[in-house]
Amino acid sequence: MPLPKLSPLQSRLAASLIASVMLVLIYFAFMSPHFAYAADVDSIRPEDHNHERLLRRPFLDPDYEELELSEPTYEAQFAGVDRGIIGRATTEPITLTNNGMQETNIPQGQLMSYMFSNASLWGSLSPINSGLPSPIILNGKVKRSVDETESAHDNEDEEELKLRSRQSNSGNQRLLYITVTACKQPTSNTTTDPPPQLQLYVSQSQDNITPGPGKDPQVEMKLDDGYALYAFNATGNVYIGVYGENVNTTYTGVWNAQIAASIDQPYHFFWNSSDPNLFLVSSDSNSALLYTDPLIPDSSNSTLAEAWMDMTPGPFTVFASDASDNSILGLQNSYCGLETKAQISASRPGQISSEIATKMTDIGTGSLPKQQFYLTGLGPGKTYNIALAMNGTIASGNSAVGAGGQVFRMTNFTTLSSENCAVITGLSFCDQVAYSVPTNPGVFNDTATLAAFYDNATSQYYTFFQKVLAQTPCNTTSSAQYSLARTCDDCANAYKDWVCAVMIPRCTDFSSPEPWLQARAMGQPFPDGTFLDAADRAEANLSKALNGSRNPAIDQTIIPGPYKEVLPCEDLCYNLVQSCPASMQFGCPQPGVIGFNVSYGVRPMGMADVNGRFTNMTCNWPGVVYHRAAGGRIEPSLVLLLISAVLGMMMG
Ligand SMILES: *[C@@H]1O[C@H](CO)[C@@H](O)[C@H](O)[C@H]1NC(C)=O
Ligand SMILES: *[C@@H]1O[C@H](CO)[C@@H](O)[C@H](O)[C@H]1NC(C)=O
Ligand SMILES: *[C@@H]1O[C@H](CO)[C@@H](O)[C@H](O)[C@H]1NC(C)=O
Ligand SMILES: *[C@@H]1O[C@H](CO)[C@@H](O)[C@H](O)[C@H]1NC(C)=O
Ligand SMILES: *[C@@H]1O[C@H](CO)[C@@H](O)[C@H](O)[C@H]1NC(C)=O
Ligand SMILES: *[C@@H]1O[C@H](CO)[C@@H](O)[C@H](O)[C@H]1NC(C)=O
Ligand SMILES: *[C@@H]1O[C@H](CO)[C@@H](O)[C@H](O)[C@H]1NC(C)=O
Ligand SMILES: *[C@@H]1O[C@H](CO)[C@@H](O)[C@H](O)[C@H]1NC(C)=O
Ligand SMILES: *[C@@H]1O[C@H](CO)[C@@H](O)[C@H](O)[C@H]1NC(C)=O
Ligand SMILES: *[C@@H]1O[C@H](CO)[C@@H](O)[C@H](O)[C@H]1NC(C)=O
Ligand SMILES: *[C@@H]1O[C@H](CO)[C@@H](O)[C@H](O)[C@H]1NC(C)=O
Ligand SMILES: *[C@@H]1O[C@H](CO)[C@@H](O)[C@H](O)[C@H]1NC(C)=O
Repeated sequence: MPLPKLSPLQSRLAASLIASVMLVLIYFAFMSPHFAYAADVDSIRPEDHNHERLLRRPFLDPDYEELELSEPTYEAQFAGVDRGIIGRATTEPITLTNNGMQETNIPQGQLMSYMFSNASLWGSLSPINSGLPSPIILNGKVKRSVDETESAHDNEDEEELKLRSRQSNSGNQRLLYITVTACKQPTSNTTTDPPPQLQLYVSQSQDNITPGPGKDPQVEMKLDDGYALYAFNATGNVYIGVYGENVNTTYTGVWNAQIAASIDQPYHFFWNSSDPNLFLVSSDSNSALLYTDPLIPDSSNSTLAEAWMDMTPGPFTVFASDASDNSILGLQNSYCGLETKAQISASRPGQISSEIATKMTDIGTGSLPKQQFYLTGLGPGKTYNIALAMNGTIASGNSAVGAGGQVFRMTNFTTLSSENCAVITGLSFCDQVAYSVPTNPGVFNDTATLAAFYDNATSQYYTFFQKVLAQTPCNTTSSAQYSLARTCDDCANAYKDWVCAVMIPRCTDFSSPEPWLQARAMGQPFPDGTFLDAADRAEANLSKALNGSRNPAIDQTIIPGPYKEVLPCEDLCYNLVQSCPASMQFGCPQPGVIGFNVSYGVRPMGMADVNGRFTNMTCNWPGVVYHRAAGGRIEPSLVLLLISAVLGMMMG
């Protein structure tokens, strides 16, 4: 198959393209072969996922009288247990109804008693509505529902509800979920350690109707950072105690807690997984961009993907606090605890002059829906604790099932310390770019103009490229195509990914010591006018790579000063060579050859974290959100084989 010959004009265009590209950079990188592009995600549909919670039933419970609680038996003194341990007498157990939450203050040393009656236990079940189009994925695995122990459905219809009722009615026992969350806790101005956790006691015995310290028989557990779930097969009346330890004068104040029991699903929920379902994509000195994990495992069901995208601004919320503020510690697994103590929350904007902007996005490989959080008003070089959560009204539907909210494990992130990197998002051409880029606050004082600057420069290169591509036989019969495996669209996509990555460098602090970073613009002043040491500048002056940016427009217009670049991944370049006609003469430097190390980065090998991620971003590509350890990436050895084949073809 003869390769098409270029006309003189075409040759000039090709030459000018290659010359421009070579002038600007001697670099390369790769990309996943099937990049799907983000659809516009701004089509906010004001669909209301909030539903009225059922009005809580008053304490009308048929079994209440039978208890004869007026008898003083529950105050029975136990040998060796004095009032100081049992706590001050509570009057009588408060009746809990199914999914009816009780909120209470618990003074130190006091026991609060509750009762969930046999009648409530055998009451009718309520439909479960997860409020979400599909189950949540944690650690890369689909979780069927909030309750992993029972095969509850995400959005139950009547048939499923009947089925669950039949199942749970089998035998003389029914699964009951008791949850306690702490919203407030005693504080100390002498220690930063959190106070002790509340204690939960559960009894099913008429011999112990006010379970608490020193009583028997009973089950006891401590809350875990403000949350406890006790799920068990109940057979009759259930007695519950929540106890706040009597700490010495170190701590003052009371606990505030929510207690609920449910025969449907835990009223409050903490996702007890190492996966926080949230990760940092990029940050600069005053803002951070975070995404949830992809909400569906693959893009095979477009209806499902659309259903998630239609949830915009998204079902989740985040709560964050400066890590130096310890008031959240001990409460971070509790929705009401986060709501009460977090410094930064979507529901209370501007707490420390910070804002959270959120929306759904399908940026990145596979166009999988995710929820994006863009936090602004942060401080430079600071660590923040952050937890993803879901307000209970999303899941509760028309019932109160799950109305207590859901919380994922708290994680943390650190902002960059220097002001010459800024996070940009929402570019119209390089629509997969959402990361920190070199900037100078004295030149671009808002990120939208900065984003437009980078997008402009890049789309101009793409325009040159398109003119050249238009000369190659793409849309002809397959026998005349340049390749049966790759089309011109593949080539255009590969070029776009590559040019966006090389023209829009990913920026991080110059002070970062990570070995995979490439120092840039070392001869320039920092935005505050200071310079690096003369010795460093003299050394940098000998190297184009160290002294300038890969895109000269950055040094001409922005003058960011010294920064470090996360180099584009080498596979972006290999994919370009593989996908485009050999007549375009794209090539990549080979690893080990001069120029490679300052041009391209390699994806990490070796150990991933417990969530299967390489948390260190060792190379960049548009749409990268993190490195997944497992996945459909091309093996490097295979890439090299393909490259050699392509290079061989080009030379032959
Ligand atoms: C702790 O705070 C309380 C009330 O805010 C105050 O009365 C007390 O003096 C403080 N103690 C110390 C050691 O600062
Ligand atoms: C989370 O799981 C661990 C181990 O399974 C358990 O020890 C811990 O109590 C659980 N925490 C909560 C809040 O359920
Ligand atoms: C409740 O009982 C069922 C059926 O006997 C059993 O499969 C399940 O594991 C029990 N659940 C708990 C939390 O004990
Ligand atoms: C609880 O109620 C169920 C159904 O009404 C009844 O069969 C059972 O005997 C009761 N159990 C107790 C301990 O009262
Ligand atoms: C209070 O208790 C804590 C821990 O139990 C202990 O470290 C502290 O010294 C005690 N303070 C006083 C004033 O007794
Ligand atoms: C795709 O998702 C929708 C919405 O969840 C569901 O109704 C449908 O059955 C799914 N289709 C396939 C093929 O899984
Ligand atoms: C959910 O949001 C509503 C309205 O903002 C609020 O009233 C409610 O308390 C929140 N739910 C929880 C569990 O905090
Ligand atoms: C951030 O989280 C990591 C991992 O959980 C932990 O080791 C580290 O101490 C945390 N940093 C801060 C400042 O809290
Ligand atoms: C940004 O700079 C322009 C002109 O340089 C100025 O008009 C504008 O007020 C500045 N905006 C902010 C937010 O500082
Ligand atoms: C982008 O390019 C357009 C047209 O070439 C120009 O009008 C606009 O000012 C440029 N924007 C920036 C930020 O350079
Ligand atoms: C190929 O032809 C189709 C239909 O005419 C057109 O939609 C498509 O954009 C063309 N592709 C290229 C790369 O020109
Ligand atoms: C990231 O890099 C740092 C410094 O090289 C290293 O200590 C850390 O273990 C790396 N983390 C991962 C997950 O590889």
